[in-house]
Amino acid sequence: MAFINSVRVVLLFCVVFFCLQSLPVLCFEYQVGGPRGWVVPPSNDSKIYNDWASQNRFQLGDTIRFKYSKDSVMEVTEEDYKNCNSSRPNFFSNTGNTVFKLDHYRPFYFISGVSGHCERGQHLIIKVKTPADQSPSHGAKSSASPLVVSSFGSSKLVVVSLLVFSFVASVVV
Ligand SMILES: *[C@@H]1O[C@H](CO)[C@@H](O)[C@H](O)[C@H]1NC(C)=O
Ligand SMILES: *[C@@H]1O[C@H](CO)[C@@H](O)[C@H](O)[C@H]1NC(C)=O
Repeated sequence: MAFINSVRVVLLFCVVFFCLQSLPVLCFEYQVGGPRGWVVPPSNDSKIYNDWASQNRFQLGDTIRFKYSKDSVMEVTEEDYKNCNSSRPNFFSNTGNTVFKLDHYRPFYFISGVSGHCERGQHLIIKVKTPADQSPSHGAKSSASPLVVSSFGSSKLVVVSLLVFSFVASVVV
């Protein structure tokens, strides 16, 4: 009987441990374009947004924030991105402060919805790194602020698991 109980205890511990381990570890929020925000680029420097994007490593769950006035943000298909076609966006916002979550492993294509702005360079491709091309240097050469969802190192994870476990065990066992 004592043996059965200790098997249950170990199993329960494992369940708690692996549940906690699958939590998102660390998510970042990036302000698009850095301090200048989401604006029509200067005419001699029309690649600012894709230059900005190439300096960052976006991961699943990260968010990007667009700050702008008298403008808008659209997420569109690759084809509509290339043609600056704003007629059928997947996503549209013109609140001046738009947060967009990168929730798929795919490229995201953004354009301004204001006539003429995309053509002048106000467009952006964000590529979310797949697990295969992760490297340890997550984040943040420019303009990222960490949003800590939960950042358990493995030693902390054991401690937290033990705490949750002892709570669950006191209820269940
Ligand atoms: C663009 O023009 C501005 C003002 O004339 C200048 O300060 C800036 O260095 C130029 N940028 C590039 C990338 O040439
Ligand atoms: C934009 O896309 C729509 C829908 O496919 C199409 O009818 C329209 O001609 C396109 N406009 C431009 C400027 O490409």
